Amino acid sequence: MKNHENDYQFNIDKYYKNYLKGSRIFNNRNALEASYIPKELPHRDIQIKEIAEKTACALLGDVPPSFLCYGMTGTGKTATIRYVSQKLAQQNSEFNPWWIYINCNVLSTPYRILAYIYNTISRKEKIPPTGLPKDVIFRKLLGLLDNRVGNSVCFLVLDEIDILVNKKGGNEILYDLTRLNENLDISKTSLIGISNKLKFRENLDPRVLSSLGEDHIVFPSYDASELRDILTERAKIVFQDEVLKEDVIPLCAALAAKEHGDARKALQLLRKAGEFAERTQNKNVTTQHIKNAQKDLENDHIVEFIKGMPLQAQLVLTSIYLISKFSSDHIIISGDVYDVHSEIRGLIPGIRQLTKRRVSDYINELSLAGIISAEVKSMGHYGRTKIIKLDIGRELVEKVLLEIDKIRNIMNHKPVFLQTDKVKLKNHIFKKLI
Ligand SMILES: Nc1ncnc2c1ncn2[C@@H]1O[C@H](COP(=O)(O)OP(=O)(O)OP(=O)(O)O)[C@@H](O)[C@H]1O
Ligand SMILES: [Mg+2]
Repeated sequence: MKNHENDYQFNIDKYYKNYLKGSRIFNNRNALEASYIPKELPHRDIQIKEIAEKTACALLGDVPPSFLCYGMTGTGKTATIRYVSQKLAQQNSEFNPWWIYINCNVLSTPYRILAYIYNTISRKEKIPPTGLPKDVIFRKLLGLLDNRVGNSVCFLVLDEIDILVNKKGGNEILYDLTRLNENLDISKTSLIGISNKLKFRENLDPRVLSSLGEDHIVFPSYDASELRDILTERAKIVFQDEVLKEDVIPLCAALAAKEHGDARKALQLLRKAGEFAERTQNKNVTTQHIKNAQKDLENDHIVEFIKGMPLQAQLVLTSIYLISKFSSDHIIISGDVYDVHSEIRGLIPGIRQLTKRRVSDYINELSLAGIISAEVKSMGHYGRTKIIKLDIGRELVEKVLLEIDKIRNIMNHKPVFLQTDKVKLKNHIFKKLI
């Protein structure tokens, strides 16, 4: 008997064989990893010079000033600091500086940050993950710094420092860190803060601001031509020779430049495009691959954005989705969305009824985010309403909403006004008799 399942079985051995036989796209894929530090950082000369000038005295065992680095996401802040720290370490100095790199997004509490600094320097004796009072850790840390770092400088890099500032106890620990030197006998520390939230300084304790925030280095966004240079240099390492078609890098750079000149975005596009080419066993990466990659990345962003919205906003979107699912040619007006929202929120325990005004606010927010379009139309003496359309694919919306626990179960709810056997009168639903 024929085994039907086998008809559809994916032949993994054959797939791998073909993969190995196929043409190569990548030469060194690892050079696209976030941890990779390029040998050169085009268009960051000014920032590298400024940081070099500020940090150079550490080579003589003197205390460099603490400072902040600002710039939008993907402007090379982290890469530049890592690059400079590497260069500094390569100099033959009797005062070889220490670098402790802390990502405040990963180490999310003041306690964990202190424990991490201690444990990284100590290597042997560890601070437990919880339990010790802060002043005990500080005392231990002071002793350890003098002991291990000796008469050198220890740089403490606080990346994504804005996250720490907004945390409970964040300002206190920053204040304590800025004052370490006053209590150290031999060693010295220097703080470097990095942030892509330009406004976070408003939340800084004035005492911290005065020792950390006065000096700052700005990382401007890249323009398309700068991104082209960055991509060209990286592509030489990442791809096999002559794999990239001529227009690929300019297109990639132009797309990323539109998004506030984000080098990370540009590199992600290039990587995804390369993977598309590889998967379809193409010999070259083409502009079409870049366009597909852009679409894919946009979808990833939308998915993340929707998942991060408040539940009520997700329910407003669900209402729009349900109307368009059950009646794709129905012209959706804000009143319908309000009605369906009222129905579905009643299906989920603990969700409040919204006012028409709030629903309308959420509609505006969804429209600003580019998920829907909402056009205001005058309806004569019935007043004005919004005509609403989904601006992204319904399948994509469905995919995200199905991943949200509270919403998954209402995805098949047919709005009452689309149920032919029901009518709604003064907010009560009745079954039609005829
Ligand atoms: N001038 C440059 N030359 C080469 N590569 C760069 C340059 N600037 C940034 N990159 C690369 O772009 C990516 C993003 O850079 P980086 O992580 O330093 O950005 P960032 O400013 O720290 O962003 P965020 O604020 O989101 O943390 C990294 O892979 C980095 O190697
Ligand atoms: Mg960074």
